[in-house]
Amino acid sequence: MHLFNVITAVGLLSPLVGAINASKPTASTTGQTAGIQALVKRRIPQHENSFIFSLTNDTASAVDNYTVVSTVDGKIHVQGTSLSSIVYGLNSYLSDVVHVDIWWHAGSQLQDAPASLPKLSSPLNGQSIVPYRYELNTGAYENGNRLQSSKFQQKKELQLDWMALRGINIAPAWIGIEKFFIEVFREVGFTDDDILDFFTGPAFLAWNHFGNLQGSWSSNLPFEWVDNQFALQKKIVKRMVELAITPILPAFPGFVPRAVSSVLPDAQVLHSIQWVNFPEEYTEDILLDPVDPLFAQMQLSFITKQQQAYGNITNFYTLDQFNEMTPPSEDLDYLRNASSNTWKALKAADPNAIWVFQAWLFAQNTTFWTNDRIEGYLGGVTTDSDMLILDIWSESIPQWQRAQSYYGKPWIWCELQIYGATINMYGQIQNVTKSPILALQESKSLVGFGLSMEGQQGNEIVYDLLLSQAWSSDSIDTKAYFKSWAAARYSSSKRPASIYAAWETVRTTVYDNTNLTLMPSVPKSIIELIPRTTDMANIIGILGTKLTYEPATMAGLQDTSLFNNSAYQYDIVDWTRQVLANAFIPIYEKILQIYNMPNQTAESRATQLRTQGEQLTRLLLSLDLVLSSNKNFRLSTWLSEARASAPSPAYADFFEYKARNQITVWGPSGQLIDYASKGWSGLMKTYHLKRWQMFIDYLVATEPANYNQTEFQDVLLPWELSWANSTGSQPDASDEDLDVEDIIRKMAKQWSEIFA
Ligand SMILES: *[C@@H]1O[C@H](CO)[C@@H](O)[C@H](O)[C@H]1NC(C)=O
Ligand SMILES: *[C@@H]1O[C@H](CO)[C@@H](O)[C@H](O)[C@H]1NC(C)=O
Ligand SMILES: *[C@@H]1O[C@H](CO)[C@@H](O)[C@H](O)[C@H]1NC(C)=O
Ligand SMILES: *[C@@H]1O[C@H](CO)[C@@H](O)[C@H](O)[C@H]1NC(C)=O
Ligand SMILES: *[C@@H]1O[C@H](CO)[C@@H](O)[C@H](O)[C@H]1NC(C)=O
Ligand SMILES: *[C@@H]1O[C@H](CO)[C@@H](O)[C@H](O)[C@H]1NC(C)=O
Ligand SMILES: *[C@@H]1O[C@H](CO)[C@@H](O)[C@H](O)[C@H]1NC(C)=O
Ligand SMILES: *[C@@H]1O[C@H](CO)[C@@H](O)[C@H](O)[C@H]1NC(C)=O
Ligand SMILES: *[C@@H]1O[C@H](CO)[C@@H](O)[C@H](O)[C@H]1NC(C)=O
Ligand SMILES: *[C@@H]1O[C@H](CO)[C@@H](O)[C@H](O)[C@H]1NC(C)=O
Ligand SMILES: *[C@@H]1O[C@H](CO)[C@@H](O)[C@H](O)[C@H]1NC(C)=O
Ligand SMILES: *[C@@H]1O[C@H](CO)[C@@H](O)[C@H](O)[C@H]1NC(C)=O
Repeated sequence: MHLFNVITAVGLLSPLVGAINASKPTASTTGQTAGIQALVKRRIPQHENSFIFSLTNDTASAVDNYTVVSTVDGKIHVQGTSLSSIVYGLNSYLSDVVHVDIWWHAGSQLQDAPASLPKLSSPLNGQSIVPYRYELNTGAYENGNRLQSSKFQQKKELQLDWMALRGINIAPAWIGIEKFFIEVFREVGFTDDDILDFFTGPAFLAWNHFGNLQGSWSSNLPFEWVDNQFALQKKIVKRMVELAITPILPAFPGFVPRAVSSVLPDAQVLHSIQWVNFPEEYTEDILLDPVDPLFAQMQLSFITKQQQAYGNITNFYTLDQFNEMTPPSEDLDYLRNASSNTWKALKAADPNAIWVFQAWLFAQNTTFWTNDRIEGYLGGVTTDSDMLILDIWSESIPQWQRAQSYYGKPWIWCELQIYGATINMYGQIQNVTKSPILALQESKSLVGFGLSMEGQQGNEIVYDLLLSQAWSSDSIDTKAYFKSWAAARYSSSKRPASIYAAWETVRTTVYDNTNLTLMPSVPKSIIELIPRTTDMANIIGILGTKLTYEPATMAGLQDTSLFNNSAYQYDIVDWTRQVLANAFIPIYEKILQIYNMPNQTAESRATQLRTQGEQLTRLLLSLDLVLSSNKNFRLSTWLSEARASAPSPAYADFFEYKARNQITVWGPSGQLIDYASKGWSGLMKTYHLKRWQMFIDYLVATEPANYNQTEFQDVLLPWELSWANSTGSQPDASDEDLDVEDIIRKMAKQWSEIFA
């Protein structure tokens, strides 16, 4: 859901060139290198004049390649056939030769490059094996939650630089899109009240755009916020173009406010199904049938307004109508007509439009989406190059094989890896290195590799791995890759050997799951789920909990010499979090054992349960403390960003409420509870720990024969909902990073007790 939301490269790609010329990302061939110079100035100011960037003359080439050389006067000259290949070439030099890089949360360490840059004795060359490198899931949590605050802007800026340096040349740009929905809805007669009745609140807009949800539980979305978002979006798309990342803008998908029945009584509309188990008032969105001429009229207006706002910066539009919903008819003619009319409306609005489409629905409901229905639906678009399909879970549940390479439509192999942006260490390194190469050999219409994860919090290495694979015709040797990755990760010159050993250990265990029945994506920590007496630690499959490696192999990072490095600070907290989360499992199992022990008195059981409950409390408090040492693992970071994104202080509680709701009860009354749970300090102490304590209390008070999960959850839910409502108090507020080294030393004694 997401919710279930080079063989020689030239040889391989040439059959495609004809088909994809029109759809080659445009920004990469038209801009100039000023955007790259600006990136250098932003991130490595001391080397503002150390680099020369140039586009070679063969920019028409379908292949992105680069050459980096040292010049006689000591500069580094990066040449490429496209701007994207130049930025990637720059990063290859910085990461592989200088050993400095840029990271999601640890931030940019490029400024750590030495005053004198290493000379290259021979040229550094690279060539992409695919014309497209993509990132972002349109249903992802970053987009779902998008917050407008100065911190968010900094993060977005960091992310765009990260994307460019990783070679990404196409990505959706959704921020502020509500502005165009408002304008187009007003044009056809909807009032602002009608529109507010349709929009979800902040943190849930992605599912509104998919037509899964409508309406905001609690207050309405303030239009001032939309204006702020739009102002930010203008900066974002401008920067994307400068950095050679072609923006994919949203198209009008057809979902309209409920008032359509009175405002446009003649409109042909379809009623979507109830999504998950949301109450009717928040789901069953109404879709304007693409066969209705009004659909084309609104599409034209929606796209023209964006072109006026940003200029003609792209021909790519993202549009999904049946995400996690059953279409109203299974008739092949109907399906063909639906896509055909949607496509024609798009082409009428922009003659060069390319429809970017997520194939998630095919994986989510294989009962409805049989091969002939997929073929029927895609067949409505008779020009293959007018579509670009995202096969969004290619490493585990690819659809492209059964759908015969989408019947010739260009498509992108995407790594999803994580649902709900929960936090746990995990990876399928064989699937992201071997499978895309096999796919390239087998599928003529595969044109790109990309990332479609639902969040960016851990396991950065497995995403980097696929983006690097886009520049290697052979499957990457992960052993060498982990080593060089770790070298760049901790840019310090004194990298102890133990670092490489630690990463090598997790490479062959934590990051090498091959049993996809057991686990096809990041598992959840049982700490973050509603406690129960059925074996929580052995849930397999999507959203499962089962560890795919021996917990004992997961040791912490040990070295103190790197404590001054921001990436190390991030990783040591993350690894320690994992060790503690794994240590929670035997404590839980012991609780079950005690509870189910036959022939014991209620007193004896209660005493033992209380003792074990104290152990559990100690562990979770330790975990909370460790997490609180780094701002990326703090609830207060999330909540204060939510508050800061409110357009005025009067809305701060409302924005915080939505942010709290998403990571806990997810819905007005727990519809997707724990789906987007987080391993953060503050949340551990005030939410997860409290639930576990209530569980212990319930066990103590309840004879095993009378155990009733429903009864327990009936008590829990009002408390969970009130937690989400208790805005204004921030349990772990602090903007500074604490001394993690100190905390970890203090913890050591306590841990030895826990692990004893
Ligand atoms: C695509 O580009 C290649 C290389 O520039 C060119 O040879 C070919 O004619 C183009 N094909 C189409 C259909 O434009
Ligand atoms: C690129 O084209 C320009 C103008 O035609 C020419 O002067 C220059 O020498 C060419 N550069 C290379 C590297 O071929
Ligand atoms: C790109 O590759 C082509 C073909 O291998 C080569 O002729 C060209 O010089 C390369 N360009 C760069 C900038 O490396
Ligand atoms: C939580 O807040 C929402 C929105 O303001 C309200 O509808 C709901 O009744 C509150 N629930 C609880 C348990 O306080
Ligand atoms: C964008 O393209 C459309 C045609 O598709 C054209 O009418 C319009 O003038 C262009 N706008 C700009 C700002 O170039
Ligand atoms: C599909 O469209 C055609 C004409 O565009 C129409 O004749 C036919 O009835 C439509 N079929 C369905 C099932 O909507
Ligand atoms: C899949 O589609 C069928 C109709 O073909 C429907 O009955 C079923 O509920 C759908 N399943 C899911 C998980 O949406
Ligand atoms: C994932 O990798 C394993 C190990 O190489 C392989 O057996 C499996 O078929 C792969 N699965 C997919 C979906 O690529
Ligand atoms: C994969 O895991 C499943 C579920 O635990 C198990 O039944 C199966 O035997 C495992 N497959 C392999 C090859 O180990
Ligand atoms: C590393 O130490 C220096 C000097 O004490 C300090 O200025 C810098 O902020 C530290 N960096 C990090 C990431 O902690
Ligand atoms: C529990 O006690 C009963 C009666 O005292 C006895 O029959 C039974 O075997 C005991 N069960 C176990 C598992 O010890
Ligand atoms: C469990 O608790 C629920 C809610 O209190 C109740 O409706 C149900 O009957 C109970 N089940 C049993 C088996 O007692």
